[in-house]
Amino acid sequence: MLITIPDVLSPEEVADARSILEGAEWIDGRVTAGHQSARAKDNQQISEGHPAAEKVGGMILAALSKNPLFITSALPLRIFPPLFNRYAGGQSFGTHVDNAIRQFPGSGARIRTDLSATLFFEEPENYDGGELCVEDTYGVHRVKLPAGSMVLYPSTSLHHVTPVTRGARLCSFFWLQSMIRDDGKRSLLLDLDLAIQRLGNDMGEHDAAKKTAVQLTGVYHNLLRQWAEM
Ligand code: NI
Repeated sequence: MLITIPDVLSPEEVADARSILEGAEWIDGRVTAGHQSARAKDNQQISEGHPAAEKVGGMILAALSKNPLFITSALPLRIFPPLFNRYAGGQSFGTHVDNAIRQFPGSGARIRTDLSATLFFEEPENYDGGELCVEDTYGVHRVKLPAGSMVLYPSTSLHHVTPVTRGARLCSFFWLQSMIRDDGKRSLLLDLDLAIQRLGNDMGEHDAAKKTAVQLTGVYHNLLRQWAEM
């Protein structure tokens, strides 16, 4: 399932982040690609652990930690420090699947990549192309979001970025390990959570509705207890 998380960063935060990122050194993006994806990848990145990446990465993680839609849809266990890329002058990234395991920079800690995230820093009208195209069993989803918004998609998906033929596409990208490895189970929990929230908003003083909400909340937590990996 693809999930759009609007307005992760405010316009002021986007402007601050952009000025920090634009002052950093950019290098060939193939440094973080696996063997197979290095052949498909043509973009620029800021190196892992660069102070600019750490500063803006910290801003993104702080914003996500307070974002209810992110938390309920991702059920995050560990989040990889955000990376940054830029595409311009016809650059693109051909069809690939992200590496299953990632090692945290400067430590032996590893995560399994369950979800991939792309957060946009440029308004869509300022560049042509640069769509993130994610394939699933329902077809190809083309994603190009306003600055400050983010998409989450299963890391198991084949995906590519179309050539940027005008302007530049500036994004953050990273991965996370979820407490719920399976995308289908995670989607069920999200549906249940959203339905319980809607019921909570609508039930007024009806006893039966209140009991139903409590019972469904119990089902949610007991499913989470059965399925969560820590
Ligand atoms: Ni990728």
